[in-house]
Amino acid sequence: MSTRPTDKHGGHAGVAGGGQDPARRPITITRLQEKKALGEPIVMITAYDYPSATVVDEAGVDLVLVGDSAAMVVLGYPNTTPVSMDEMVILASAVRRGLKHPLLIGDMPFGSYEASNEQAIKNAQRFVKEAGCDAVKLERGGASAERARAIVESGIPVMGHIGLTPQNAVQLGGYRAQGRTAAAAKAVIEEALELQAAGCFAIVLECVPSELADALMPLLGVPAIGIGAGPQTDGQVLVYHDLLGIWDGRPAKFVRQYADVRHQMVNGVTAFAKDVRSRAYPAPEHEYEMSPDEASQLAEWARDHVASLHEFLAD
Ligand code: KIV
Repeated sequence: MSTRPTDKHGGHAGVAGGGQDPARRPITITRLQEKKALGEPIVMITAYDYPSATVVDEAGVDLVLVGDSAAMVVLGYPNTTPVSMDEMVILASAVRRGLKHPLLIGDMPFGSYEASNEQAIKNAQRFVKEAGCDAVKLERGGASAERARAIVESGIPVMGHIGLTPQNAVQLGGYRAQGRTAAAAKAVIEEALELQAAGCFAIVLECVPSELADALMPLLGVPAIGIGAGPQTDGQVLVYHDLLGIWDGRPAKFVRQYADVRHQMVNGVTAFAKDVRSRAYPAPEHEYEMSPDEASQLAEWARDHVASLHEFLAD
């Protein structure tokens, strides 16, 4: 381990997005409602570990989701269904340690809430008690709305997620836009209203036609956060690895890539390997020193040691 402790625990102060602003206050659900009322767009992003948490905090986002997309972009599973509660809690705890201002939401993985209200409450409590999350998110309407209501009644804020819900992508016909007919769009809108009635403080709307979002927005009192849902929602969310260009998979149509970090990472590691192989690294400035007196004592001892070793081998 070559890093050294920083005194910046509990969130890094930076320049980019308000990290250095001493007046910056932690985001609350009330503040989200105010933002919606004022028409101020809400910025949400995913994060999965301590460094990504410090980055998104410094950049000044409002909401941070420890998404079950971690299954793919961090843990290398082929889709989101295999990730476990234990894995999600470890990731969410690391994010908590790096986050100060945004509201932190834990994404309930497939199999952690569907069976019963009791199961849903127990696992939502794990996100709060073990990882320090402020809220949880779960996918779909229908039975999930009942689970959402139970979790809200247990005292934990819940964010809904409708439209394309990757946990049941197979049922939905794959990773494709949902609600593209009037009837299908009405079904998605009804799910949104159901989740709102269940007490969700916000709803993610993923991969639906903009017309659906336009029809939904006047009906919704809680913030809608879009991802591939057009410009009308109260906020937007993207996956950290997608927008920074860390993920080497095929991005969805709605992704805008703001950086090419993976390319820079590969270049950096390639340059390191080249320097090690050519002995250009480490350079003198990376070395530690002894005082000349200690160094000559050590050299004398080593010489004597080598001499007695040679005598021993010669006998
Ligand atoms: O898991 C995730 O990253 C998500 C966002 C895309 C909303 O659910």
